[in-house]
Amino acid sequence: MDRVSSELRTRHFEHSATEPEIELPAGDVTEGVVRVGNTVRRPHQPQSYAVAAYLDYLETVGFDASPRFLGRDSQGRDVLTFLEGDVAGAKLEPWVLADRLLVSVALLVRRLHDASIGYQPLEHFPPSPFTLHRAELVTHLDVTPQNVVTNGGEATGLIDFDLAGPSTRLIDSLNAAMHWVPLRDPVDLDDVAVDIDQFARLRLFADAYGWQQSEREALPRFAAARATASWRRMKFRAENDGGGWARMWNEGVGDLILRRRAWLLGKEPAIQRALLG
Ligand SMILES: Nc1ncnc2c1ncn2[C@@H]1O[C@H](COP(=O)(O)OP(=O)(O)OP(=O)(O)O)[C@@H](O)[C@H]1O
Ligand SMILES: [Mg+2]
Repeated sequence: MDRVSSELRTRHFEHSATEPEIELPAGDVTEGVVRVGNTVRRPHQPQSYAVAAYLDYLETVGFDASPRFLGRDSQGRDVLTFLEGDVAGAKLEPWVLADRLLVSVALLVRRLHDASIGYQPLEHFPPSPFTLHRAELVTHLDVTPQNVVTNGGEATGLIDFDLAGPSTRLIDSLNAAMHWVPLRDPVDLDDVAVDIDQFARLRLFADAYGWQQSEREALPRFAAARATASWRRMKFRAENDGGGWARMWNEGVGDLILRRRAWLLGKEPAIQRALLG
């Protein structure tokens, strides 16, 4: 094991203060995430050190919008810095759909990619099932509203790097757009989102992130192919990892993904017009 890896493994966070543990909103998979003072404690996971090494790198290149890995506490939990701000809850609220926030998310994802491009992973990320592309960079891969910290209506932080790993800029930015625009069959839009213009919002995201012409042309089919991959991955995780993955699958996430896929293909000309016009 090299010097950096052993330093990560022996990094301990001790604190003598008696601050209370405050439960944080539960996500879909990880249980037991709490806030203690200006830190977050999360259960240690197989990918924790790979994520920690990446977060260290982001710190060294001056990226200021991700938590710092402070070490493990006496209970073995990962300790990360708490990022101040507002984070969307599971129930969609109108402020999450503001165009200015969408644009700021695209800009933040772009900034993360620009910061990550030179990173050579020191630690092995657990392979993600059905990953067929050649990786360009390590990145977040789960930029959902629940994993973005906002201040004054703009995205200022990215949290929950559990799914981080090698991927491509387009996959990660498209995934963020899918959650934030959002890209889904209108029958699956939440009540507060029924009046949004998905095509106009996709264009806003594309321009803010800076998708290339060729990426825009291919986007509907690329996104449909990603939906297929995502359906397979979710099914695989539900069957093999159980827990929150199985619950999401039982709640019908697989069908939602298939409806998204059909919608993307059915709207291919409209999406291309919105992106290229
Ligand atoms: N470093 C942090 N700074 C600020 N808030 C945080 C931080 N980490 C977590 N939170 C808050 O706690 C919530 C849950 O944390 P997190 O996203 O890390 O776990 P999770 O969503 O339960 O995990 P998973 O998505 O794997 O199921 C977040 O949505 C956010 O509100
Ligand atoms: Mg989360």
